[in-house]
This record gives sequence, C-alpha cells and structure tokens, in this order.
Amino acid sequence: MSTPQPDSGRVAIVTGASRGIGYAIAEALVARGDRVTITGRSEDALKEAVDRLGSDRVLGIAGKAHDEAHQAETVERTIEAFGRVDFLANNAGTNPVFGPIAELDLGVARKVFETNVISALGFAQQTYKAWQKEHGGAIVNISSVSGLSAAPFIGAYGISKAAMVNLTQQLAAEMAPGIRVNAIAPAVVKTKFAAALYEGREEEAAAAYPLKRLGVPEDIGGAAAFLLSDAAAWITGQTLVIDGGMFLNAFV
Ligand SMILES: NC(=O)c1ccc[n+]([C@@H]2O[C@H](COP(=O)([O-])OP(=O)(O)OC[C@H]3O[C@@H](n4cnc5c(N)ncnc54)[C@H](OP(=O)(O)O)[C@@H]3O)[C@@H](O)[C@H]2O)c1
Repeated sequence: MSTPQPDSGRVAIVTGASRGIGYAIAEALVARGDRVTITGRSEDALKEAVDRLGSDRVLGIAGKAHDEAHQAETVERTIEAFGRVDFLANNAGTNPVFGPIAELDLGVARKVFETNVISALGFAQQTYKAWQKEHGGAIVNISSVSGLSAAPFIGAYGISKAAMVNLTQQLAAEMAPGIRVNAIAPAVVKTKFAAALYEGREEEAAAAYPLKRLGVPEDIGGAAAFLLSDAAAWITGQTLVIDGGMFLNAFV
C-alpha cells in the first residue's frame, strides 16, 4: 500500500468493501487522502478491513446492502463522522445461483435484483437526498462483462448487471450537471466471489485473455478512483470495460 496523502477533504461510501474489489476501491481512495465509509454484512470482517485501511480515516458500518434502514444509517453516520459524502461506489453484489434461466427460482431472481440493483438505487437516493443534490459529487456502479452480453447459466446475475448499466445512464441523465455517474464492467477478477472460475486452473483461465492474466482488485480500484475524481470531470453515463482485452476475442 502506498503512503497516504494529506486529507483531500473528500468523503466516500464504498459498499461491500471488507475484501475484494470494494476493499481495493476504498484503499485507492484512502491512499489519495479521502475519508471512506465501508460496508459489508460481517462486523468482524469489516473491523479487520477498517484496521488495515487506517481507522482514523475509515468507518465501517455493518448491514445488508438492500436494507433501506442500513442505507439511511450509512449515509447519516458518514455525514456525522466526516461532514459530507462526495462519492458513492455501489460495489456490493451477489451471484448465488448457477443453472439454466428457464428453471430459475423466481425468488432467487428477485433476491439477485434486490442486492445488485435496488441496493445501488437505494444508496444513490439516500446519498442524493442527504448531500449530493445540494453539493454535487460522483457515483460509480460495479457492473460486469456478464451484463454486456449473454452469460449462460448465470442469467439472473447477467440481467442484473445489465440493469446496472442502464441504471447508471438513468442516474447520469437525471442527476447532471452536479453529479456524475459511471459504471465499471470487469471480467474475472481474483476475489473470493470469482474463485470458482479460476481456482486450480488459473493459467488456463488467464490464457484466454489478450493480456494473459486475470484481473486483480487493484485493477478496478484505480479505475474507480479515477472515475470518482476531477480527472473524470467530463465523463458521465459511461460503462468502462476492464477485461484484460477479453472482449477483443469476440471479433477474432
Ligand atoms: N470478482 C469478479 O470477477 C467480478 C467481476 C465482475 C463484477 N464483479 C462485481 O464486483 C463486486 C464485488 O465483488 P468481489 O469479487 O470483490 O466479491 P468479494 O471478494 O466476495 O467481496 C464482496 C464484498 O461485498 C460484501 N457483501 C457481499 N454481499 C453483501 C450484501 N448483500 N450486503 C453488503 N455487503 C455485501 C462482502 O462482505 P460480507 O460477506 O461480510 O457481506 C465483501 O466485503 C460485485 O458486485 C460483483 O458482482 C466481480
């Protein structure tokens, strides 16, 4: 981890950030001097992450991303602790089911939508109401390459991640000019979430990528920090594909 910069005066919320991509986003923001609230379901995991990130600049708030009371509490306590909330990274997500969509349990489909899409909308609404409407800011939503084309056997996940792309466009259109909203669509990134896709066969999995490796959380963390910065001041409504060149293969 690089040496943290002086306080930037900016504040962010990153959902689902006790490990993986969310943690890497929080780490990149803390390293540049932002104060950050991270969320996740497990109190213990959050506490460990806060300690690792530096507890003077980081607050952990445990809860389920889709829970409206948790969304409101997170925004309220962030403003209480840090005075503002400039940035939101909607990262928490789930992919609990593998199988043909024709046989998908609709209760599971609803749960996937609730966690991946409605949560992001709820956090965006709360952040807007409490701070960004008046003061502006930026949002980044973590979608997936699974949302950009068919994703056989993880259909509910793919559909929810496609919805994140349009949610990003809707929010960007309605919240401009004060608030910029973008998405990131990663291919396989080495985290607990994606482990089943590469564990025991990483070399083989990586060979399919033009850049010959899988993603690491820092690949996404740096890009999210860029989109949540003034360097991206004229970028809104976009989905940045971060895939080691994987999509290039679709045309060869
Ligand atoms: N890894 C990939 O290949 C990949 C590719 C494309 C997109 N993505 C997306 O990237 C995001 C992060 O994935 P990841 O790979 O970093 O996963 P991960 O390593 O499993 O981390 C997930 C994080 O989110 C928290 N979390 C999970 N469910 C939650 C919920 N319902 N409410 C609140 N927090 C929750 C987890 O903590 P607790 O378990 O304690 O809640 C953990 O901190 C997801 O939206 C995923 O769809 C991942």
